[in-house]
Amino acid sequence: MVKKICCIGAGYVGGPTMAVMALKCPEIEVSVVDISEPRINAWNSDKLPIYEPGLDDVVKQCRGKNLFFSTDVEKHVFESDIVFVSVNTPTKTQGLGAGKAADLTYWESAARMIADVSKSSKIVVEKSTVPVRTAEAIEKILTHNSKGIEFQILSNPEFLAEGTAVKDLYNPDRVLIGGRENAAGEKAVQALRDVYAHWVPVERIICTNLWSAELSKLAANAFLAQRISSVNAMSALCEATGADITQVAHAVGTDTRIGPKFLNASVGFGGSCFQKDILNLIYICECNGLPEAANYWKQVIKVNDYQKTRFANRVVSSMFNTVSGKKVAILGFAFKKDTGDTRETPAIDVCNRLVADKAKLSIYDPQVLEEQIRKDLSMARFDWDHPVSLQQIKAEGMLEQVSVVSDAYEATKDAHGICVLTEWDEFKSLDFKRIFESMRKPAFVFDGRNVVDAVKLREIGFIVYSIVWFH
Ligand code: NAD
Ligand code: UGA
Repeated sequence: MVKKICCIGAGYVGGPTMAVMALKCPEIEVSVVDISEPRINAWNSDKLPIYEPGLDDVVKQCRGKNLFFSTDVEKHVFESDIVFVSVNTPTKTQGLGAGKAADLTYWESAARMIADVSKSSKIVVEKSTVPVRTAEAIEKILTHNSKGIEFQILSNPEFLAEGTAVKDLYNPDRVLIGGRENAAGEKAVQALRDVYAHWVPVERIICTNLWSAELSKLAANAFLAQRISSVNAMSALCEATGADITQVAHAVGTDTRIGPKFLNASVGFGGSCFQKDILNLIYICECNGLPEAANYWKQVIKVNDYQKTRFANRVVSSMFNTVSGKKVAILGFAFKKDTGDTRETPAIDVCNRLVADKAKLSIYDPQVLEEQIRKDLSMARFDWDHPVSLQQIKAEGMLEQVSVVSDAYEATKDAHGICVLTEWDEFKSLDFKRIFESMRKPAFVFDGRNVVDAVKLREIGFIVYSIVWFH
């Protein structure tokens, strides 16, 4: 019987996943541990470190009862029957595989710590997204100074999306568990399966071998991102031909073999995982001598880069080929609505491009703090295809062109143009008449998220460019 579970890594995955597990398994004690003291303090406060609809409520119900957040990593690992590892696995920025391979430094240090502090047998669960066959390496690390303790490694990748994490965790399409195909492996799979079976119907719990589970996570993200790049590539052709990408996507998506979800054309996909995981997949293909397969997936990222550049170029070219000295309002900075996460948000690329063209940006996002926006815009970006040339594309004083404000009306006042870069619901109900009156004319709207009612805005007098339709 599993009595105590611990999760290393109190991030976007570890926090919500363990909170829901604690809520659904009241007889199990769940501890989430992290080396970051500010993060743990925030999890123990009224202002959680991440914004996720419904999460406050789940945490309030269990925290202090059977859900604990702590920096005492070693104590909780020592006491647990199951240890989830949900640390970050970013793209390597230097050394072998730089620009593509996953950086497993955090994972390895977590595994070494588990090996060092454990005095009883444990199930170690890969929750982080890792390259296929990582479990083999982890097994070696865990058993290198074997004290006669048995470790069973399971792969249990997470499929939640930010902004809907709690909903996704309550009602997942599937839970995937991969394990060794022997008696001890099967027993471990069964133990984890029993935990999920507290709330997930058993027919939705898929059990596979370790390598299938690890690879399925990368494959799922690659397939999802591929849909967005496919529809975005099609949006470019729509704009050139007079077809409307929403109509095309609807017509295509009603074929049940294709399906309607995840076909929204946009300024490009962002987030901490799609690009990172596809790059990782590309690297694995290359390492396995499969350049054609690698090139296929590269194209998904290339189209995404193209879409972001295309959008920013359209802003500049529409505004008479110069945005120099012009105020441009940026509505939304997060990589999608209902999250304050800005990792790999397309807003960074669009803002950087406009700043380089000397625009004055006034940025508003309901959940992203000014400090975060400034940090994101001052960070060096690197070209994934040429990682050696890690680019410092910022000129001195560039950030002086950027102001961050606390509402959409302030952001748009005296602006020449508005770029909608995140699909926050509140942008749909803005008083665009009031906004139009306060703006310089001609007043432009560039909708990268299909948020505004273009027909209504044109009636008001705006010149509207949307990813969906160009006039
Ligand atoms: P995150 O950066 O928000 O959280 C990772 C946490 O791990 C950080 O708080 C960090 O301090 C902590 N950490 C790192 N090394 C540690 C160590 N040795 N000991 C203790 N704590 C340590 O990352 P995330 O977004 O939660 O992602 C975690 C993993 O889950 C990644 O592999 C990611 O690809 C995968 N994933 C993420 C999502 C998502 O939506 N964000 C969804 C599915 C899978
Ligand atoms: C994605 C996957 O959806 C999750 O299943 C997966 O677990 C997760 O990655 C991960 O491994 O981290 P997430 O990145 O949180 O989740 O958010 P998505 O909803 O997938 O959106 C990613 C990006 O694609 C966003 O920038 C979003 O705006 C964009 N997008 C999404 C589109 O442009 N069009 C769409 O139709 C859908």
